[in-house]
Amino acid sequence: MTPVNVAAVPQRSPFRYPGGKTWFVPTFRRWIASMKSRPRMLVEPFVGGGIISLTALFEDWVERVVMVELDDEVAAVWQAIVAGDAEWLANRVLAFPLSREAVVAELQMTPTAIRERAFQTLLKNRTLHGGILAEGSSFIRHGENGKGIGSRWYPATLATRLRNLSQVAGRIDFRHADGLLVMEEFSQSSNVVYFIDPPYTAGGKRAGRRLYTHHLLDHERLFSLCERLQGDFLLTYDEADEVKELVRRHNFQMRLIPMKNTHHATLKELVIGRDLSWLDELPVVRETIADYRVE
Ligand SMILES: C[S@@+](CC[C@H](N)C(=O)[O-])C[C@H]1O[C@@H](n2cnc3c(N)ncnc32)[C@H](O)[C@@H]1O
Repeated sequence: MTPVNVAAVPQRSPFRYPGGKTWFVPTFRRWIASMKSRPRMLVEPFVGGGIISLTALFEDWVERVVMVELDDEVAAVWQAIVAGDAEWLANRVLAFPLSREAVVAELQMTPTAIRERAFQTLLKNRTLHGGILAEGSSFIRHGENGKGIGSRWYPATLATRLRNLSQVAGRIDFRHADGLLVMEEFSQSSNVVYFIDPPYTAGGKRAGRRLYTHHLLDHERLFSLCERLQGDFLLTYDEADEVKELVRRHNFQMRLIPMKNTHHATLKELVIGRDLSWLDELPVVRETIADYRVE
């Protein structure tokens, strides 16, 4: 399987999200298309930039999505969109005179309304290095073509994405909550499926800690919860022995999916589920790295 060309996948999220799953969209489509009956609802317990939920809505794979995010700033964006403020946000983005001084002045203000907080989040997301909102992040210094702080600020594109979101906002149930609790809530419903992309910090070797304010998760509890779900689910994880051990203990299946990161390096991520026969051309992953070869 050749790595996905992310430029060919419609970008629907207003975020540039660290760990964003745009590259996973074609695999997500295959998964949901392989199901015997169309699920009514998709639950995304760690939604972040939400590209998978948005794809499911725009392409009508499901009627509704439940999107869950713990981070206050990210949550503000989804809350504003669901509350009907996508158009307001689009206009705010178009009117903002981007400069370093303007960004600093804007971010010094304490937002009083959710939509103002949402705007600040989008601004930070596109002016901070790597789109990282977690504390300790810094402004883009050089950026594309020496454009510095404005190198990721595409107001017209962002405004279009926000306006398009108005079309699906009524089908989003957004929860500013713990994804594990929301999974519990739906666990006994059979016409619900789950796309689960948790924050992960394998032995501290990955940057998960720096990428997200909320990076700690009880992965054992997540796997146990998955076992009890009536509906089907997919999990994605960085490739790590600790994760493979969890998969084996819970009797799930796993495959390695190749992806290209923003620097065009080919990386691989684990996709985990109950039955991955619809992904059969990918190599089955054994418990230890030495046990398999890819490519
Ligand atoms: C790997 S990212 C998800 C990226 C997403 N799939 C995308 O395409 O943009 C994980 C997200 O989970 C959020 N998070 C961490 N712990 C959480 C929890 N207990 N409940 C809900 N969200 C949580 C983080 O803030 C982060 O946004």
